[in-house]
Amino acid sequence: MSDPTAVDYDGMIPNNVGLNADPRLRRALERWHPGYLDWWRDRGPEGFQENLVYLRTAVGVDSEGWAKFGFVRMPEYRWGILLAPAVEDRKIGFGAHKGEPAWQEVPGEYRAMLRRLIVVQGDTEPASVEQQRHLGHTAPSLYDLRNLFQVNVEEARHLWAMVYLLQKYFGRDGREEAEELLSRCSGDRDSPRLLGAFNEATPDWLSFFMFTFFTDRDGKMQLHALSQSGFDPLSRTCRFMLTEEAHHMFVGQSGVGRIIERTCAAMRAAGIDDPTDIERVRALGVVDLPTMQKKANLHFSLTLDLFGSEISTNAANAFNAGLKGRYLEDQIGDDHLLVDDTYPVLRLKSGHIVAERVPALSALNMRLRDDYIADAESGIERWWNRIIARAGFDYRIRLPHVAFNRRIGEFAAIHADPDGNLLSAEEWQRRHDQFLPTTADNRFIESLMRPVTEPGGFASWIAPPRAGIDGQPGNFEYVKLAR
Ligand SMILES: [Fe+2]
Ligand SMILES: [Fe+2]
Repeated sequence: MSDPTAVDYDGMIPNNVGLNADPRLRRALERWHPGYLDWWRDRGPEGFQENLVYLRTAVGVDSEGWAKFGFVRMPEYRWGILLAPAVEDRKIGFGAHKGEPAWQEVPGEYRAMLRRLIVVQGDTEPASVEQQRHLGHTAPSLYDLRNLFQVNVEEARHLWAMVYLLQKYFGRDGREEAEELLSRCSGDRDSPRLLGAFNEATPDWLSFFMFTFFTDRDGKMQLHALSQSGFDPLSRTCRFMLTEEAHHMFVGQSGVGRIIERTCAAMRAAGIDDPTDIERVRALGVVDLPTMQKKANLHFSLTLDLFGSEISTNAANAFNAGLKGRYLEDQIGDDHLLVDDTYPVLRLKSGHIVAERVPALSALNMRLRDDYIADAESGIERWWNRIIARAGFDYRIRLPHVAFNRRIGEFAAIHADPDGNLLSAEEWQRRHDQFLPTTADNRFIESLMRPVTEPGGFASWIAPPRAGIDGQPGNFEYVKLAR
């Protein structure tokens, strides 16, 4: 008989990993759980913990179970541990072990490398929740407030997913790493998150939408690369996480799209033909397109740094070991070994940016970054620029050059404008206000951040969505606020 006083972990934690039949794992999770709840209360969304929120919960990985909608108080959200179904006879698809059976246990020789990959991915998940924790107070609608919280609980579930791997497969040091994931904090001076972009502030809703468009898309690329892993539990975990990641990017691309739509409509109504007539546009209470461009410049360049150095032996080692593949590795038609291949990398050579072919294994970060850029670019064209073009304005949001505003890799030491022209330090000083949001820009955006809390209402600067969540009507009360 089971202990009647014990928490029913199968009921409380939706899972398909046999939690109740694994006492060692259960004990580890039971020890970690209270600290997790403290983290959620202290560093998760500020306020709203007692409000009912219309959230999607994944209780299984089949089409029935992965999206259950209902009203929940966030601390009572059922964070689950869910792996995509096992692929029978799965083989390692790349690197030195290509063709061998996928690992169901940690390969001893790669233990440290694998743990590091999981810890770095795991660290980003709670970081974004911490970055977004103040936004609830300025939400432009209940619909958006709900979407913010949905993203937050899912990022927290992604933390669970990585903690599961650490606790299940890495013994004592895995448990220590799981604790550390709760003790580092975004932006903290002494104990920051591991990666730069996850220590930046997300002060307003435009930043939030840009973050979910650009930075969650880095998450998508990393999860894709890890979903190719020869370590099967990591692969299966990441495959399921990708279903949630898609929603985060939807929040970003539709969020920015709705701001653009509102701006274009307001300019039309006011008879403004020139989108760069910033003062007149701002006077309408909407965000001018040049400011949107600056925000995109900022978030894109910060996110590129997440891909690491263009030339990287770590990336080569992880690939060779069969731990981290390329984007859509299983759909690429080459030998998946890359020992004789080359790949073009942008480098700085005597003051010029040139493409240089380097051994493909050492250029895997660059390749993932290129795939990322193509993905982001197509999102911008299909969503944002289409809205601007349909409204009849001659303006395009463009991605800046990869050399622009970088802190990591080949271009960290130089300055470049968004077109990739190199600038002296003085020129950069003089001109960076044209490329990146200024204090005045941020202050203007901040001035728009006034909460709208009546059901069906939207702030002046953002258009309503085309459709509600889960088919709900326009005036649906996604978050029940005490009035
Ligand atoms: Fe995530
Ligand atoms: Fe995400």
